[in-house]
Amino acid sequence: MENKLLEQINALVKVDLPLVSNLSNAAAVLANYENINWCGFYLVDGDSLYLGPFQGEPACTVIAKGRGVCGKAFEEKKTQLVKNVKKFKGHIACSTMSRSEIVVPIISGGEVKALIDIDAPVINRFTDKDKEILEEIAGFLAKLFIEGGVKDHHNQEEKDNPVAAIEKLKEDYDL
Ligand code: SME
Repeated sequence: MENKLLEQINALVKVDLPLVSNLSNAAAVLANYENINWCGFYLVDGDSLYLGPFQGEPACTVIAKGRGVCGKAFEEKKTQLVKNVKKFKGHIACSTMSRSEIVVPIISGGEVKALIDIDAPVINRFTDKDKEILEEIAGFLAKLFIEGGVKDHHNQEEKDNPVAAIEKLKEDYDL
């Protein structure tokens, strides 16, 4: 697979695990992006976005639809690739370090369910290739939001030896 991050996320994420567990490990994989200062998820609840699993400095916990880069991606259901956050009207500066940003909606059943957000400490960090990679990841993660998915995790082998399970994944997928 050309998209190594997707391959790694695919190995870690399981539909029968709680959303918070899946997105936490996905955030850890996204943190492998070079030259970034924050990556993580915002989750939709009604007309608001709430901070989800992430890696980086503490961040804003709630963002209204239409506000900032995240709120715009939510409202327009479209990826926002911001070359220079200082030139984006209404940008919400959770971290003073951030200079460029990409926000990709995770859409299921035609509705935005969550967002992937990555911030970089340099201007113009993200390319159309990154957009493509992250949109592919968002498409994959969308399956976690399909209603009525199995939510109980019954893998006894993994419960008996959780370290062996994660070590094997790390070795197999270069994590
Ligand atoms: N900059 C975002 C807010 C979230 S932080 O980057 C983590 C925005 O303008 O919506």
